[in-house]
Amino acid sequence: MKKKIVHNKSRFLVLFIVFSIFSIFGCTPDNNQSTFGTAGPIANSQANLFLLIFAIAVVVFIAVEAALIYISIKFRRKEGDKLPYQTHGNTKLEITWTIIPAVILIFVAIPTLIGIWSQQNGVPDDKGQVLNIEAVGHQWWFEFRYSDYEVITSNELHIPKGRPVSFKLSSQDVIHSFWVPKIAGKVDMVPLNDNYIWMIADEVGEFYGQCAEFCGTSHAHMRFRVFVHEEEDFLAWVDQMHTPADPPLPNTAESRGQMLFAANCSMCHTNNSTTPGSYIMEINTQDARWNNWIDDTENSALVSAPNLTHFGTHSTLGSGIKDLNHETLVEWIADPSSIKQGTRMQKQAMVYNTRDGKANLTDGEISDIATYLLSLKPGSGAELVIDDIPADGVIDAEAVFATNCAACHSLGNDVIVGPGMGGIKDRAADRVSGLSAYEYIYESIVEPQAYIVEGYPPVMPGWASLGDETVNALVEYLLTLE
Ligand code: CUA
Repeated sequence: MKKKIVHNKSRFLVLFIVFSIFSIFGCTPDNNQSTFGTAGPIANSQANLFLLIFAIAVVVFIAVEAALIYISIKFRRKEGDKLPYQTHGNTKLEITWTIIPAVILIFVAIPTLIGIWSQQNGVPDDKGQVLNIEAVGHQWWFEFRYSDYEVITSNELHIPKGRPVSFKLSSQDVIHSFWVPKIAGKVDMVPLNDNYIWMIADEVGEFYGQCAEFCGTSHAHMRFRVFVHEEEDFLAWVDQMHTPADPPLPNTAESRGQMLFAANCSMCHTNNSTTPGSYIMEINTQDARWNNWIDDTENSALVSAPNLTHFGTHSTLGSGIKDLNHETLVEWIADPSSIKQGTRMQKQAMVYNTRDGKANLTDGEISDIATYLLSLKPGSGAELVIDDIPADGVIDAEAVFATNCAACHSLGNDVIVGPGMGGIKDRAADRVSGLSAYEYIYESIVEPQAYIVEGYPPVMPGWASLGDETVNALVEYLLTLE
């Protein structure tokens, strides 16, 4: 029996040593989440501080172990030894081993406090022009708001090299923590209590970020990527974020995907934050989603969701879990929890309200949505007019409605995503003073965000690309609906 316990102990020891050795591999400087291969002055000062403390700890460890081994051997009990003289207390020794650790702790505290002070009070004035970003934690993804440039991204952070970046950190649900191991330290993201951190990256490249505070089922999968660019490349990226994607051509996978997206996904995901005003609108929408979710966390129709503007330019999926491509995106849309356990999307969105929790869409429909999302990239910038007028010049407005609008609007009173179109003539007449029903409907098709009716999500894309004649025909048709 005793032999077996000894056997188990040695097996545990071997396991422990093997595990420790593998753990140490995680510290190699080229590991993505290692704090040693640093790419910024703050991470560098923290790494240096760690190495200093580690060096002191090594000296203490060697001194203590050496003394222990020396004393164990020298004063080992020999054959015939009697019980040694019993004593209690030794003032000299006790003072010595109180003073030595106190001196060591003071020695360690000085550079630690200098480091904390230098990073605590925001970016020092001599570091150059500051880039301000608000980082918001959500279960389980990151939102980045560039207040200086009115740009919003999710899970992918783009910053310029050598410029100080100041982050305001908050959360729209539970406590998360913002951490970019190679560039800066970590600070908690607390709901209703803003925290701050700043960083400078001094190397161009792609770096890993990670939530570092346990925040629920998918905490370990709450990651993000940091892309550090040269200043001019960063400004070019900002420019691209203000360039709308080209609208899909009619009767393509992209156009079918766009309609399916509008009908099934656009209640929670914005995908067109490129125009002036869309920055504030997205923040308001995100706040509205947050409030809606707080009111009823189990059954709310709206939950916070990543902004998918120019999603086709992203490199990863599910906040950094998988590489983004058509195959992984199809897998994600069909059954998100096969990739990331516990996503709110699967729990809350109507389209997943099925027996097995998988999307209530055909394989073809899922593929079309994926194709559409991957096509979301900065466009040519030119206003694309489809102007799909038949050869005989007669526009079939009913068919235009069926192709472009019916996924979100019914012809009666039923609400799909937007309001039903039945009796729109009477409602439109006195909606905006100075606009006739005709003008109001026309404007609402071409530039829908101008007159969002309360209670509806601001998700409708503008349809100016249909061309003036087609939009006019559509308005005439809508005015006839009882
Ligand atoms: Cu968010 Cu852990």
